[in-house]
Amino acid sequence: MNILLLGSGGREHALAWKISQSKLCSQLFIAPGNPGTAHCGINIDIPATDFEAVRKCCIDHAIDMLVVGPEEPLVKGIQDFFKADRALQHIMVIGPSQQAAQLEGSKAFAKSFMDRHNIPTAAYREFDIDNYEDGVAYLQSHALPIVLKADGLAAGKGVIICQNHVEAIAEFELMIQQSKFGDASRKVVVEDFLSGIEMSLFVLTDGENYVLLPEAKDYKRIGEGDKGLNTGGMGAISPVPFADEDFMQKAISRIVIPTIEGIKKDRLDYCGFIFIGLINISDDPYVIEYNCRMGDPETEVVMPRLKNDIVELLTAAAQQKLGGVKIETDGRTAVTVMAVSGGYPGEYEKGVPIDGLDLLQEEEALIFHAGTKQDGEGIVTNGGRVLTVTSFGDSVKNAAEKSKAILEVISFDGMYFRKDIGYEFY
Ligand code: AMP
Ligand code: GLY
Repeated sequence: MNILLLGSGGREHALAWKISQSKLCSQLFIAPGNPGTAHCGINIDIPATDFEAVRKCCIDHAIDMLVVGPEEPLVKGIQDFFKADRALQHIMVIGPSQQAAQLEGSKAFAKSFMDRHNIPTAAYREFDIDNYEDGVAYLQSHALPIVLKADGLAAGKGVIICQNHVEAIAEFELMIQQSKFGDASRKVVVEDFLSGIEMSLFVLTDGENYVLLPEAKDYKRIGEGDKGLNTGGMGAISPVPFADEDFMQKAISRIVIPTIEGIKKDRLDYCGFIFIGLINISDDPYVIEYNCRMGDPETEVVMPRLKNDIVELLTAAAQQKLGGVKIETDGRTAVTVMAVSGGYPGEYEKGVPIDGLDLLQEEEALIFHAGTKQDGEGIVTNGGRVLTVTSFGDSVKNAAEKSKAILEVISFDGMYFRKDIGYEFY
């Protein structure tokens, strides 16, 4: 079959790499893709959110399956757009409906979903301009720290953890009164602070059944030892050492199954990935957030560990046949380490030449491009997160060492990467 994958990051390169290995895939197109995905299929230079252009591409290339990488097209309703169009209705869409994508697109929607279905998460209240004064009073008497979340999508920046009441009320005012995150912060969720260690679960569902993909843990802070500013993700590991059978059983019975049952009860139209951000508090799992897509850079360790044919899995999801499907996993540990531009997550330069990529063979290194661009014969930087290297090992430390050794061969001006990905488990 012909497949169109939307997106252009490291997640999409890892998905494209995996999809292109499937015996069921005749031709893979990636829109817009990057120089890495160009090795797995054909890049089409259209934005993932231009639905009319995506429609034309599907018709021109006789696409049978659409795989949506990032959240934005989903939250904007690409699944509904396909279902409503006669010329596109036959295409299998991997990604939830606009309403179901609210699990990521609206924190208030996700919190009320969890409340309704008794899924463990932090206690919360939601506020907007109409109950603003109640919000201020609530904040004043709230235990510290206080977590403020912009309701809508805010490019990963919408969560603010406040250490005192003055800061919390100032941020609350900025979000609601001054539209700090535009429309995304018209509504604010105020949440209890949870203290524990985070990890991510990846579920593929057909709306009725589900399979659990390998779990992962990402490292969001720019600095070693988890210090400094938040980023999109500086690296990831899989499996997660503390996610033992006992913990996973709790996560499945208290969170995964109630989530799938909740989707059914609420009649949400959901065929696709659910990324559940969990926190482990004294061996009990709580949900921090839902995302309606795979994680980045978690996908860069999850896909290499997945032994199943991904297109077989996605087809089973689209045909509501995931019941009974068995997931097979590579038992080794995978670690990915992200190389970023100097200055990231603040200001950084683009267009910086990348050296050393031609010195590495695919067998020795799984290099996934994130923010890169072809420039004549060479490849240059084109974003904050530039590329990530995934390696396998018999321990977290050993796999991380291999990725770091490969990154020593690659260079660009200002290049930085964390040397301690997975450090708690060395
Ligand atoms: P998000 O933008 O929803 O991915 O949240 C960003 C990060 O904020 C999460 O990965 C957590 O580290 C942190 N966070 C979110 N909610 C809470 C909470 N209730 N307690 C503690 N940390 C949180
Ligand atoms: N790595 C976190 C995310 O993809 O949201």
